[in-house]
Amino acid sequence: MSGCNVVIFYFSRGGQTRLLADAIAEGVQATGAEALLRTVETDSDAASMRDLLLDKNELINCDALIMGSPTRFGHMSAHLQKFWETTSREWLNGDLIDKPAAVFTTTSSLHGGQESTLLNMALPLLHHGMLLTGIPYEQPSLHHDNAGGSPYGAGALNASSNLTLSANERASAVALGQRVATIAQQLKSTKDA
Ligand SMILES: Cc1cc2nc3c(=O)[nH]c(=O)nc-3n(C[C@H](O)[C@H](O)[C@H](O)COP(=O)(O)O)c2cc1C
Repeated sequence: MSGCNVVIFYFSRGGQTRLLADAIAEGVQATGAEALLRTVETDSDAASMRDLLLDKNELINCDALIMGSPTRFGHMSAHLQKFWETTSREWLNGDLIDKPAAVFTTTSSLHGGQESTLLNMALPLLHHGMLLTGIPYEQPSLHHDNAGGSPYGAGALNASSNLTLSANERASAVALGQRVATIAQQLKSTKDA
């Protein structure tokens, strides 16, 4: 369905989280929806700076949002947290209520906090009234994963800093993008009917 856009809003200093963002975008585009890769204001050497900064109007007008961050001491990066602390007006207006959303993260160690980061990234989105979507276990890659990816969202392990995704990490990320875009399209067609 045309006319449906999904914002993929992420921060990536070294490029690993950007890889996941790209795989998620591929999943979004496979449904016919538009993927808008957007980043957050930060120092200029961050890998995510290849993309445009997220404009508040894009946030307000998106049909769905997928947010990604490197894990930083078990949380999303401060850049993204700071951004959400500038969204009081959007929260007061209810601009994001009932839009589908999902989250993704990367870590450098296997038990370094992917799940805690995914869960705490969901919090501002829930405060904004968004509809959080994960990855159901019908997705085969979740059953074979030994690095990144969980029911809470997409993930990747960056143990050797070699900027690659395993086949399962990639498959889960593509599936998450497809899932969020499909749900966004279904909701949009109901609203437009
Ligand atoms: C300040 C800081 C804190 C970090 N905290 C964690 C952590 O809690 N757990 C972990 O496994 N990796 C941690 N890392 C490593 C990054 O999460 C990991 O390298 C990530 O893949 C980087 O993503 P990027 O290449 O998109 O920037 C941390 C890195 C930095 C710079």
